Parts: sequence; structure tokens; C-alpha cells
Amino acid sequence: MNIWGNVEELSARDFQTVRQVVYDTIGVNLTEAKKSLVISRLSKRLRELKIKTFADYFRFLRDTPDEVEVMFNYLTTNVTRFFREKHHFEHICSEYLPFLESQARNNGVKEIGIWSAGCSTGEEPYTLAMVLHNYFQHKNGWSINIMASDVNTEVLEKARTGIYSKQEILGIPYHYLKKYFKLGVGPNEGFFKIKKVLRDLVTFRRINLVSQEKYPAAGSLNLIFCRNVFIYFSRETRQKILGFFHRSLLPGGLLFLGHSESIGTSEGRDEDWLMLRHTIYKRIP
Ligand SMILES: C[S@@+](CC[C@H](N)C(=O)[O-])C[C@H]1O[C@@H](n2cnc3c(N)ncnc32)[C@H](O)[C@@H]1O
Repeated sequence: MNIWGNVEELSARDFQTVRQVVYDTIGVNLTEAKKSLVISRLSKRLRELKIKTFADYFRFLRDTPDEVEVMFNYLTTNVTRFFREKHHFEHICSEYLPFLESQARNNGVKEIGIWSAGCSTGEEPYTLAMVLHNYFQHKNGWSINIMASDVNTEVLEKARTGIYSKQEILGIPYHYLKKYFKLGVGPNEGFFKIKKVLRDLVTFRRINLVSQEKYPAAGSLNLIFCRNVFIYFSRETRQKILGFFHRSLLPGGLLFLGHSESIGTSEGRDEDWLMLRHTIYKRIP
């Protein structure tokens, strides 16, 4: 172990191997600048397994197929919070839902399908659930389906429990907190638990956005949230995924990206998307 508590230096060749596996499998682009981050995150895993060198870890990785998924759990960045970029939720309530209601008066369709792609520990899909439930609760016949996915199985496990610490619930406006959370009991004392009425609106699944195997059916979604995920992907990967998002949305459906992400002309085809506001895109036609 070296002075930083890391197991050892990662050789250039081994770093290249990790980069390639991660890029090929989940699309995350670990640049040279991320090397120390990779070392510190993987060192934790080595300590857990009581493995002393990266060379031994890579041998273990080769002999243990399930370990690749665990390695991805250590290498993805999962920062998130409730009501992150709250102007997105305001846009949905003030523009999109009234539009959907007016459409329903003509076609009778009262269903809304949403995908939170790269949902991390669940704060994003549960924020959507709160906002939509609150909006539709006194309106008859509406059905809300929120699919939430991530490649990281550990964050999904936490998301499924719907249990959050005092620190994690800080961004939730008080009336939502009061209405949709209950205080944890027993081992969950001091924590807050999402009420069943919201939990039932969200289905969590492991989906690797790069593999495109388990994407929702074409034309089945009103809204896709894929925020603060594209920043980890290369331009080619973003382009490919945008094409699939376009196909999954209903015509006129919306795509929400993170604050530092956009559909540049080099990424999305101009004729496919109309930018309504910064980071909010409408599927054309
Ligand atoms: C920074 S978090 C963003 C969470 C949330 N969308 C938000 O904006 O607060 C990025 C998430 O993308 C997930 N991710 C990275 N690569 C992925 C892939 N290939 N497929 C699905 N999810 C992926 C990570 O596991 C992580 O949970």
C-alpha cells in the first residue's frame, strides 16, 4: 500500500485495459485525467477483497465474470439530488401537462409514460413521481408510469428501498416532504421513506444505455430524462443513444438533458429535435 492508502500504482497497460472494458461495455469515457480517480475507487474494491495488487485483481476479474458488473458499480459517478434543475419540473407542470390534458380532451388518452435513464439512487424519478402525482391527483382517470434505469446495480438497490437520510432530503420543498414521505422506524429511524403511493408509480430496471437491449418500445414515451449522463460518453455514443431516444418518444415528446449537456449540431440531427429551452428538446415530428 502506498502513502495515499491506495493499493499500488496502476500500470499504463492495466489502466488502458480498464478504460477499454469500461468504454466498450458501458460507454463511459475514462480519460487520462481520471486515472487517479480510477485508482482510488478500485483500491477500495481491492481492500474489500483483500487483494494486494491490481495485477491480482485483473486475474480475479478474468476468473469471475460477475465481477465486471461490480467494477462498473465502483467506477460510475452517481451524484444526484431531489429537485435537481427544478426548472425542468416547472416546465412540465406549466407547459407540457396542460398540453397533454388538452390533447386528452380530443383523443381520450390519459396515460403518461416517462423514463428516467441514468436514475442513480432514485431522487430524479421520485421527484417526477411527486410532481406528477401532485398535479393529477384530483383529475380523473390519469395513469402515470415512470420507468427508472441505471447500469449500476448498487444504486438501483438503494433506489428501490426509497429510504433517504436527512441530508439527502434537504432539497425537497416542505409540502412535498410532508405529503410523500414518512419517518423511518426501527433500523430506519432518523431516515425518511417514500410513501407507497409514489413508490408504486416507479419501476426500476437495470438498463445499459449503450447496449440498447432493453429500451422501451418505439413511440411509447412522453418524456425522457437523461440528465448528467451524456457528460461521461463520447460523441459517437451520445449520437447513437439520441437516435434511440428519438425512436422511443412519442411525436412531440420531450427529452431533458443535464445543465452542461446539449444536442449540438454534431450530435443530434437538427431535423430530429427542436430546442424549446436550454436542455429541453422536443421530438420532431
Ligand atoms: C451523475 S448520475 C446522474 C443522475 C441523475 N440523472 C441526475 O441528473 O441527478 C449519472 C448516472 O448515469 C449512470 N450511467 C453511466 N453509464 C451508464 C450506462 N451506460 N447506462 C446506464 N446508466 C449509466 C451512472 O451509473 C450514474 O448513476
